[in-house]
Amino acid sequence: MNKISVGITGIGSYVPENILTNDDLSRMVDTSHEWIVSRTGIEERRIADKDQATSDLSTIAALKALEDAEMKPEDLDLIIVATATPDYMFPSTAAMVQKNIGAVKAAAFDMSVGCSGFVYGLVTGANFVQTGMYKRVMVIGAEILSSVVDWEDRNTCVLFGDGAGACILEPCDESFGILSSELGSDGVKGDVLIIPGGGSKNPASEETVKNKLHAIRMDGKEVFKFAVRVMEQSSLRVLESAGLAKEDLDFMISHQANSRIIDAAMKKLELNKDKTHVNLTKYGNTSAASVPVALDEAVKGELIKKGDNLLLIAFGAGLSWASVVLKWNKEVRNV
Ligand code: UT7
Repeated sequence: MNKISVGITGIGSYVPENILTNDDLSRMVDTSHEWIVSRTGIEERRIADKDQATSDLSTIAALKALEDAEMKPEDLDLIIVATATPDYMFPSTAAMVQKNIGAVKAAAFDMSVGCSGFVYGLVTGANFVQTGMYKRVMVIGAEILSSVVDWEDRNTCVLFGDGAGACILEPCDESFGILSSELGSDGVKGDVLIIPGGGSKNPASEETVKNKLHAIRMDGKEVFKFAVRVMEQSSLRVLESAGLAKEDLDFMISHQANSRIIDAAMKKLELNKDKTHVNLTKYGNTSAASVPVALDEAVKGELIKKGDNLLLIAFGAGLSWASVVLKWNKEVRNV
């Protein structure tokens, strides 16, 4: 069976307005602007309002993506939300978005792959289009990490922020769209990046709250080493399976966790600094939202043009990684 080519035909993103600066954090924990910038590149991050849930951020991004694609919500066949911070254990955040935007025909489900979630979702959604099962799939990466951060742990609280990004996948001209992809998992290292409480292993109790089991725990050094390794290796493998050489790559959108990790990948790919878009300075690490938010800014900022070979790559909890090479198929529309 010939696969249908699939491309991104609409994109939108949203970050909350509240800004938390490094100086604000230095009044909360023993840290400094200089330490945070030199170890991560992050200068500030966005924090959702108390009354905003992940589905609310997702809904705003989703409506922008629909407008960009000139599509009605009722035309969507499927909504996938990648998130580590869903509104509820169930129903899914995707079902909330479906309700909010009025996508009456769409199936809806969430994916839990930490920071790799959006790229995992893109590959999953693309497969539905490639096989002909669905024509119009929305993939959202969205997080309110501020709701699961331990604000007394300087090792983690300086890193994360909130946001959402959405893409619409549709069949496209066969010379464009997704060329190759790779999904990976290393469950042996699962405990180096974890929220231990609230699931079936450690159900919520006074004890779990007292022991802060509902907050992010991370061995930063282990994640860092893993990230540099998989970013370098996976990017080369997906390029090869797309039939491209390093020099054929026009632009990279990486998960926005740490500028030193992005620099290492750029070096390996021999890419100039202007061949990527870094926004972790403004937003910190927004987990599953980071790739679609950065992609949206790069597309709307005309850093990516029709015909460019583009690499999307992410890593995160699981531990997991995901990468996609695509030939960008869309003219810019600033909505
Ligand atoms: O999306 C996936 C999620 N996670 C990541 O991507 C994280 C990947 N890892 C990283 O980005 C880096 O490992 C960090 C930024 C988390 C840490 O950078 P590092 O260069 O690996 O620092 P470190 O953990 O080795 O810590 C160095 C020192 C330690 O002090 P001692 O033990 O050497 O005295 C830490 O206690 O820095 C200390 N430290 C801090 N100091 C000031 C840790 N956090 C802070 C802080 N402010 N916020």
